[in-house]
Amino acid sequence: MKKHSMLTGLIALALGLASCSADRTGTADYRVVPLPNQIALAEGARGFALDPRTEIGYTAGNAAMERNAELLTDYLADATGYRLTVTDTPAEANAIVLTASLDDANAEAYRIEVGADGIRIDGASEAGVFYGIQTLRKAMPVEPRARVVFPAATIYDFPRFAYRGAHFDVSRHFFSVREVKRFIDMLALHNINRFHWHLTDDQGWRIEIKAYPELTTVGATRPETVIGHNSGKYDGTPHGGFYTQDEVRDIVAYAAERHITVIPEIDLPGHMQAALAAYPELGCTGGPYEVWKIWGISDHVLCAGNDKVLKFIDDVLAEVVELFPSEYIHVGGDECPKVRWKSCPKCQARIRALGLKSDAKHSAEERLQSYIISYAERLLNAKGRRIIGWDEILEGGLAPNATVHSWRGIEGGVEAARQGHDVIMSPTSFFYFDYYQTKDTQNEPEAIGGYVPVEKVYSFDPNLPELLTADQARHIIGVQANLWTEYIPTFAQVEYMELPRMAALAEVQWMQPEQKDFADFKRRLPRLVALYDRAGYNYARHIFDVEARLVPDTERRVLTATLTTIDDAPIRYTLDGSEPDDSSALYEEPLSIDASCTLRAAAFRPSGRSRVFGERILFNKASMKPIELLQPINPQYSFEGKGTLVDGLSGNGNYKTGRWIAFVGNDLEAVVDLGEATEIRSAGINTCVEKGDWVFDTRGLSVAVSDDGKRFREVASEAYPAMQQSDPNGVHTHTLAFEPVTARYVKVTALSEHAMPSWHGGHGRPGYLFVDEITIE
Ligand code: ACM
Ligand code: ZN
Repeated sequence: MKKHSMLTGLIALALGLASCSADRTGTADYRVVPLPNQIALAEGARGFALDPRTEIGYTAGNAAMERNAELLTDYLADATGYRLTVTDTPAEANAIVLTASLDDANAEAYRIEVGADGIRIDGASEAGVFYGIQTLRKAMPVEPRARVVFPAATIYDFPRFAYRGAHFDVSRHFFSVREVKRFIDMLALHNINRFHWHLTDDQGWRIEIKAYPELTTVGATRPETVIGHNSGKYDGTPHGGFYTQDEVRDIVAYAAERHITVIPEIDLPGHMQAALAAYPELGCTGGPYEVWKIWGISDHVLCAGNDKVLKFIDDVLAEVVELFPSEYIHVGGDECPKVRWKSCPKCQARIRALGLKSDAKHSAEERLQSYIISYAERLLNAKGRRIIGWDEILEGGLAPNATVHSWRGIEGGVEAARQGHDVIMSPTSFFYFDYYQTKDTQNEPEAIGGYVPVEKVYSFDPNLPELLTADQARHIIGVQANLWTEYIPTFAQVEYMELPRMAALAEVQWMQPEQKDFADFKRRLPRLVALYDRAGYNYARHIFDVEARLVPDTERRVLTATLTTIDDAPIRYTLDGSEPDDSSALYEEPLSIDASCTLRAAAFRPSGRSRVFGERILFNKASMKPIELLQPINPQYSFEGKGTLVDGLSGNGNYKTGRWIAFVGNDLEAVVDLGEATEIRSAGINTCVEKGDWVFDTRGLSVAVSDDGKRFREVASEAYPAMQQSDPNGVHTHTLAFEPVTARYVKVTALSEHAMPSWHGGHGRPGYLFVDEITIE
């Protein structure tokens, strides 16, 4: 018989009673995040009252269950102020008993029975019990309470996906063992069971490899780091760090206690510049190389023609396999430029020796990459392991047993599933948590770009009935979010980027799709956020801000502003640009805005005022008028569609916010109906440019007018030269002035870049034209 922690429990009890309001009883609420599959409350039956004498029981001799029990006492201590006794011989009454006897097809299923005598958590495995523990923990009252009543109920729950992943890049910035454990704690809270640990990249090698000591003595430290988005300025401060093999084992064990498998990623054959800095003979040119100081995709990759590289892969993976019990080892495979291979005699000799040929599907160099990935796969398969690779591994033909990690959209995953390969879905537009989570990017810590709000994460549905047969869809084994840390130097910022998006991820990963409901999720989220507060997590608070939906109403010629908050907190607003305070107008119904103004609004709660929402709304003669487009919008960037161009709202320097719509291969050709003959003298547009992303300025603007909407006559036009490499990114404004003319219909045409210039990587291909607000005066 084992009993422990009674003594400390009693001491903590005394302290707990002194420090929290012991006289008040709290009631548990099982509607947590992720929402359990079935919650059957036993109406009228007496629930279970937790008190300091409650024991936590586990099956004798089951070490994993004993650890579950200890973790449960930790969680309960946090919620009650006292520590319960863990025992393998619990009393008949007043106990929470953990067993793993549930007979269920889903290995992570659990059942919780709550009655007057106690709580039983029965799992299909110890992991299943752990998720029952998480549900119990999250069901506890928000304020710590000494007495908690758990309503009588039966809960039955199981996850949708067996692979529920979260990725963390510790190469671009290094994070300590303590911080990595804090990351793992976050995963446990969200029922996530795979930690994809991105350990190596161009900017730093972070895992000790005994056979190659210089990987960490040299490759773990870069001399300095570029400031911002490759600004050309540097911080002058060395950045480094790595995990010893003992530390790796410690982290793997810490995760395993929380039923989380650590999947290491050794990214190859690209993203290897830090390794090349340590061992330059592994590169095509022989170096010298430095641990990279800037962000991007380095051309310096492993030489695929050098047998020393094969031995390197062999040796590194052999040590990795010893450290990580995970069935899966991630071998990267993403973003491997082929420029060095094309001119490397060794790589070309390998291509000839292997008889690799370019054809319509793949180049010889892409096939050489497949050769390397397949080589790594053979090594790992021989050790009883399987590989995961990013979706680029499709490009030279898939390694035979590889699992594909689809990140550039879902297409790679769909293709791999069709070929009978397992797939993990991490499309950037839903699951790249390094992207901005708000459109208000000016008030955010600098991020890589993009826009992935909580709602977008939540909306992902990997059910692909129109793309995959049922058999193929079974290959979609899971969903994962990724956190790349180029612009995330501190762990506080890691927390900010992860939370609460991880809560939305958890429901995508765990819940059956027909039970998902974003409105309901938002009602349950504040209780999870209270746990974030207790843990001291630096979560993003956007979800508590005023959410504004601004929609042009072309019938009434107004912009309709609908303001909401997650918890229906009172909202106050101003239209004159002043700060809303508690004497400002109370929002009661959607606002109809019919003239230029600055709308500002905030939620007012007992805890204080939220951040202020602000939007400048500018009316011109085109605003809120009917508009037609004569050429199609690019479907990837259509957002709210054509109304975006006349909604009085201007996009900022981020083209992905929804304020911009894009044309590619086609041009903007818009006809605005002013409603009646109107005198006008100028017309213009804004464009948003991001040349590195193939987003170019317009090549020509023209304005034509018509009285009947059919026959137009041009009143002004201007052509613009192709962009130079040195031309600025960001917002560009183009306005054409002309002799005053009276007309009802105005056609504005802006030509897109139909062939990008020769200095650009995409030369000859069409560029994207992002346009916003049409201005007619
Ligand atoms: C990736 O984001 N390069 C997989
Ligand atoms: Zn080479």
